[in-house]
Amino acid sequence: MQDAADAGFPGLQPLIGRWRHLRDGLLASPAFQQWASGFPLTRWIARRQAAKLFDLCAGFVYSRVLKACLQLRLLDTLREAPRSLASLVSLTGLPEESLRILLDAARAIELVEQRKDGCYGLASLGASLVGNRGILAMIAHHDLFYEDLRDPVALLRGAQEDTALKAYWAYSRNTSPSALPGTSLDEYSSLMAESQPMIAGEVLRAYDFSRHRLMLDVGGGEGVFSAAVARAHPALRGVIFDLPGVAERAARRLAEGRLAERITAVGGDFFSDPLPPGADIVTLVRVLHDHDDTAVLALLRNLRRGLPGGTALLVAEPMSGEGAAGRLSDAYLAFYLLAMGQGRPRRREHLIELLATAGFGRARTLKVGVPMLTSVLLAEAV
Ligand SMILES: C[S@@+](CC[C@H](N)C(=O)[O-])C[C@H]1O[C@@H](n2cnc3c(N)ncnc32)[C@H](O)[C@@H]1O
Repeated sequence: MQDAADAGFPGLQPLIGRWRHLRDGLLASPAFQQWASGFPLTRWIARRQAAKLFDLCAGFVYSRVLKACLQLRLLDTLREAPRSLASLVSLTGLPEESLRILLDAARAIELVEQRKDGCYGLASLGASLVGNRGILAMIAHHDLFYEDLRDPVALLRGAQEDTALKAYWAYSRNTSPSALPGTSLDEYSSLMAESQPMIAGEVLRAYDFSRHRLMLDVGGGEGVFSAAVARAHPALRGVIFDLPGVAERAARRLAEGRLAERITAVGGDFFSDPLPPGADIVTLVRVLHDHDDTAVLALLRNLRRGLPGGTALLVAEPMSGEGAAGRLSDAYLAFYLLAMGQGRPRRREHLIELLATAGFGRARTLKVGVPMLTSVLLAEAV
């Protein structure tokens, strides 16, 4: 929240500083905490604060409970039909007591619920989860990230040379990414393809592509985003530009989806190769946050070189900020990218500056339904 000093009353700064110091001292004091949790007017605040603190401490256990449920296919099984404890014992092969512990934990974090007849079924969070293949793929992928986060301070100091995520994202810190063998790109390409539909849905709701003829999707992966836009706008044609191994995967997927006539895939390095011409809109979806500022400028300048003035540029990715969006970008993605070895989530203003430096102006933010998934900026070549 913006305070009076930030809002342009610098004279209030010392007063606000003293108030914050007093507040921090009070909140940290065990005697005050005791008093606040007993006093009727502050009791609910104290309870909420305690619950939030506990969630922060225990979050990693919740994630492991989730992982165990998925590994044992518990949620998929319950999606088919509610099951008794005995039938789940035989399906999972866990000892009854251990399974009970897992089911109680899953119930406590709202993945499953116990019905009146004693059978277990999905609870609301569990039901939303089993229908979301993108999140399921991310949870499975988190095993690697979990390894890299074992010692977060070592990660912050840059002391972890060989992280699992650097190896996974083969283009990270690679000086000739175009030469990467297709096999080193397969895993991350599938993960991106699995998680793309939820992003495409948000972008399609935020921007009307119907005014365009040809869309160039730079770093477009296997083409899931381009395919979603093309399906929503039957007159639009598309070109995907990505590393050669990924472009091959895109071409195969487009052919399978009967879109090869409308969308082509071109392989190359977006930092140095000329980009396919003719587009009247260019998209960068979950691309810029993967790279440091110098690399982002190199990419944007390379892109700008081939574009006539007035060409639209749409950037979609999680951006740093307040609320739930900030939690995803600042408390999750920033550490993910740290482990990956390059890039960072950026504030909108910073991205707009980078765009302007590379020759893209008139930037504006588009409204999205779920900013936690992605924010969207629209600019144009000037
Ligand atoms: C995080 S993925 C995003 C993929 C897709 N836009 C999406 O949202 O699903 C970043 C993409 O950039 C591509 N990429 C990375 N470095 C590249 C380079 N130097 N030239 C071309 N593509 C590159 C990767 O292969 C990958 O497909």
